[in-house]
Amino acid sequence: MIELKNIRFTVATEDGGAQRTIIDNLSFTFEKGRFYAITGPNGGGKTTLAKLIMGINPITSGSVILDGKDVTSMSITDRAKAGIAYGFQSSARFKGTSFRDLLSIAAGTDDEGRLAQIIARVGICSMDFLDKPVDSKLSGGEIKKIELATIIARNPKLAIYDEPDTGIDLWTIGPMVELLKREQQDYGTTTLVVSHNRAFLEAADTLVLIKDGKVAYTGSFDNALPILTDLSVCGFGDTCEGASDVRCYR
Ligand SMILES: Nc1ncnc2c1ncn2[C@@H]1O[C@H](COP(=O)(O)OP(=O)(O)OP(=O)(O)O)[C@@H](O)[C@H]1O
Ligand SMILES: [Mg+2]
Repeated sequence: MIELKNIRFTVATEDGGAQRTIIDNLSFTFEKGRFYAITGPNGGGKTTLAKLIMGINPITSGSVILDGKDVTSMSITDRAKAGIAYGFQSSARFKGTSFRDLLSIAAGTDDEGRLAQIIARVGICSMDFLDKPVDSKLSGGEIKKIELATIIARNPKLAIYDEPDTGIDLWTIGPMVELLKREQQDYGTTTLVVSHNRAFLEAADTLVLIKDGKVAYTGSFDNALPILTDLSVCGFGDTCEGASDVRCYR
């Protein structure tokens, strides 16, 4: 379980004026073992919130409590040791490092059989990936799959994925949703997926809508539909005409 208590994140404005509030006194509890989809308009604060939980951004005020322990001032490394894992919206590339290296570090073993088992469990990336360098030659979708595999290999208590479907082909999104649901169910992983993709929003136990740095809605996907449509975050032009037409919300 992770509790966010009155979290604020402010940044200095370029003109040196008043601070800009990105996350605005947000409180929310992510219950253990549940699957959350975090969605909302671009620039609403989803990535910032995810980074605050991982400790990538320092919170301005408030606290983050993981399983009853205050981790607010803990480093990223200590949070990772405590069981939090994070997948970036734009995945990192490492010149001179292969998928095998990353997976071995994540899994804590370089045993070929064990790595093969993990790849089979992940299901969305093939054994051929093992010796691929994780550099600029990888496609956008390949690097996302590799990052997701390294998170799963760690069996985290809390897994945070920031738009894991970016660049992923249509045929992999379904299996990716199933994979994350299976991990949640088999390992009790508390799962937070930042996404605009309807497949993730529908699969979640709870949808959390972040807008203007606040929780604008929390509950089921079905009940969120009118709000999501109302936000007009879904598309451009004629496709969004009619408040009940949600097909445009991907
Ligand atoms: N360190 C920072 N300094 C200044 N502004 C920031 C910083 N981090 C985030 N922001 C701003 O805060 C707002 C929220 O950004 P964030 O990346 O959290 O949005 P998001 O909800 O993830 O959007 P998207 O759906 O486009 O990924 C944006 O306007 C962004 O420019
Ligand atoms: Mg984002």
